[in-house]
Amino acid sequence: MSLLELRDVKVVYQRRDGTLVPAVAGASLDVDAGEIVGLVGETGCGKSSLAKAAVGLVPVAAGTVTFDGRPVHVLGRRARRASERRLQLVFQNPYESINPRRTVGAQVADAFAISHTLPRESWRARVDELLRRVGLPLNLARRFPHQLSGGQRQRIAIARALAADPAMIVLDEPLSALDSSVQAQVANLLVDLARDLHVGMLLISHDLAIVRHVAHRTAVMYLGVIVETAPTAGLWRKPMHPYTQALIDAVPHADGAGHLPVALSGEIPDPARPPSGCRFHPRCPHVMERCLSDVPELVKHGGDRQVACWLHEEPVAARPADDLRRVSR
Ligand SMILES: Nc1ncnc2c1ncn2[C@@H]1O[C@H](COP(=O)(O)OP(=O)(O)OP(=O)(O)O)[C@@H](O)[C@H]1O
Ligand SMILES: [Mg+2]
Repeated sequence: MSLLELRDVKVVYQRRDGTLVPAVAGASLDVDAGEIVGLVGETGCGKSSLAKAAVGLVPVAAGTVTFDGRPVHVLGRRARRASERRLQLVFQNPYESINPRRTVGAQVADAFAISHTLPRESWRARVDELLRRVGLPLNLARRFPHQLSGGQRQRIAIARALAADPAMIVLDEPLSALDSSVQAQVANLLVDLARDLHVGMLLISHDLAIVRHVAHRTAVMYLGVIVETAPTAGLWRKPMHPYTQALIDAVPHADGAGHLPVALSGEIPDPARPPSGCRFHPRCPHVMERCLSDVPELVKHGGDRQVACWLHEEPVAARPADDLRRVSR
């Protein structure tokens, strides 16, 4: 059993005109202790909504979220608070989570001040330890957030999350507000923390290059559902879902030469009116007849990969006609 398990999770918003938007439409995902799982997909595909569902910030309309073996949404308030401490969230913009009027040290200490898990005389030493952990000089504790650089502020946001002694951290675009050189440093910090503290991480990013560098496993989301998960190296070597292939093709090569990305054609559909069958079918270069009507499940391929695509379905005896249409790759 994984530390965090999302099973067929649905998140539904209501627009002002009353339309229901199933932003997450039955997504399943696991994150183990010490594992970094990258979650990628185009804007609006439901990454943040899934992250919020995982930490209990938005209600789950259907499906289950299990953390540390316990279903999160049925816990009582007290048990939930304890479990929330073990499951921390770091946002893209550290300005939103950091109070401009209090010193950095006081804010890092919030977690143990609130939870009464540490005697007061140990707070200072623990703050120092956390600053060291995230690679910041100890004298920063007495500074105010506006005196810090963007990278330092994001490190503080991570230190605040660590102060609660979490088993897992969900990070929603934690690097996208930073310069690329700083991005790489903070990305390396995440790798170190996951390894040294055995913290699980769900890392949301639209930057595939960062996810490739950092994540042990990558999950690809399209219009509210997970379409593929695989160990990151394998996913890059051999993406199986046509959407994953298109995303990877769209990443510029490091050498910048000789690469013609296969652009993703067509608009991202409105999640309130998703296409029938496979949600990706209107944009898929390999679309087959059954893709228009049958919803592909996320099924296992080999030991550690899951794909939701009819191209990779095992042959079904009852539907020989489909086999003839199948595109061999
Ligand atoms: N409060 C809300 N009310 C109505 N619709 C919403 C609300 N929040 C999000 N949505 C819609 O839900 C869908 C998923 O949004 P979400 O923010 O989860 O996507 P995302 O993958 O995080 O996108 P991005 O990469 O831009 O951050 C989008 O269509 C969005 O417009
Ligand atoms: Mg988002």
